[in-house]
Amino acid sequence: MTEVKIETTLQIYKDLNDTPKDIQELMKSAVRARDNAYAPYSKFNVGAALLLDNNEVIIGSNQENASYPSGLCAERTAIYYAGAKYPKAKIIKMAITASSQNQITDQPIPPCGACRQAIAEYEIKQDQPIEIYFMGVKGKVVKSNSLANLLPLVFDRGFL
Ligand code: THU
Repeated sequence: MTEVKIETTLQIYKDLNDTPKDIQELMKSAVRARDNAYAPYSKFNVGAALLLDNNEVIIGSNQENASYPSGLCAERTAIYYAGAKYPKAKIIKMAITASSQNQITDQPIPPCGACRQAIAEYEIKQDQPIEIYFMGVKGKVVKSNSLANLLPLVFDRGFL
């Protein structure tokens, strides 16, 4: 038996003002998306904004459904929209923010496992890392230089 230790590296900014100007702008788009989320069931709004290499910004928010599993997360709404609208464009940066309608979300909210898998697909497809930033409504912002840092042991096309 051998043991394998997997490490990851993230950067933590003390708040949004501490991040580069372009990230503040991208996060503002994510906040606007978040405020338009359709989340009547969970009361948990999530917004995502993607910066593409053609300079377009694509946004997404979570879209819920009375049949709960039919809803979709903000990150996948955005990434699938980007893939549909600009199939050749690369995703350079992604900003994510979440807010609960019941309490103040002052800690960074990471993308769920299903969204990490979906983002991984696009990172692998474009053969270029996607910078990911995530936060609550205020407080710290976490940066990952690549989706790969958030999803070790990814299941990818190499296994098919
Ligand atoms: N949600 C997202 O939009 N992104 C995530 O990464 C985590 C969860 C949404 C799904 C659902 O509408 C609500 O947040 C509560 O889980």
